[in-house]
Amino acid sequence: MIIRDAVVGDVEQMSAFLKELTASGKRKSPDDEAFVAAHYIDAPGKIRCSVADDEGSVLGFQSLQRAEDGNKWGVEPGWGVIGTHIRPSAARRGVGRALFAVSRKAAEVASITAIDATIAADNPEALAYYEAMGFRTYRTSSGLICKCFEIT
Ligand SMILES: CC(C)(COP(=O)(O)OP(=O)(O)OC[C@H]1O[C@@H](n2cnc3c(N)ncnc32)[C@H](O)[C@@H]1OP(=O)(O)O)[C@@H](O)C(=O)NCCC(=O)NCCS
Repeated sequence: MIIRDAVVGDVEQMSAFLKELTASGKRKSPDDEAFVAAHYIDAPGKIRCSVADDEGSVLGFQSLQRAEDGNKWGVEPGWGVIGTHIRPSAARRGVGRALFAVSRKAAEVASITAIDATIAADNPEALAYYEAMGFRTYRTSSGLICKCFEIT
């Protein structure tokens, strides 16, 4: 498995496993190819979007974006905003951990000092994952738990 930049050619696979996550109730946002292209590959404020590639099979991806003024997440402008999506058949094999090592480095290079992860309160796997990566809860709101990773 290698971690590399996501490219347009990955969109079909990314969308396909986001649809699996939607079907299992683990995703609420859109999952179509146009959404993936616009919100991850060509996202405004994109710092890095990485995929885990196992001989052409995309096992997961992680998006890191800069929170702009008035951003939809209500995150402090200048912070990073992270999202992680692993193909269900590849879960708990270290893919998310490998992706975060690269995203963390990208945040440092971009002079980001803190990263927000906003997680549904009823998503114990994601809460455990971000906690294991060093994120800590800093605010909660209507079914959401926001965790912060400070880059020191
Ligand atoms: C949550 C998610 C990102 C984790 O990614 P992953 O590749 O499975 O995680 P890793 O295998 O790298 O696990 C890293 C650590 O996170 C924790 N962790 C990950 N999945 C876990 C789970 N299901 N239960 C408990 N802890 C878990 C563990 O501490 C793990 O370390 P360990 O395996 O050495 O014990 C992935 O399962 C996923 O994409 N879920 C669906 C989409 C989603 O909820 N995304 C987050 C939305 S904000």
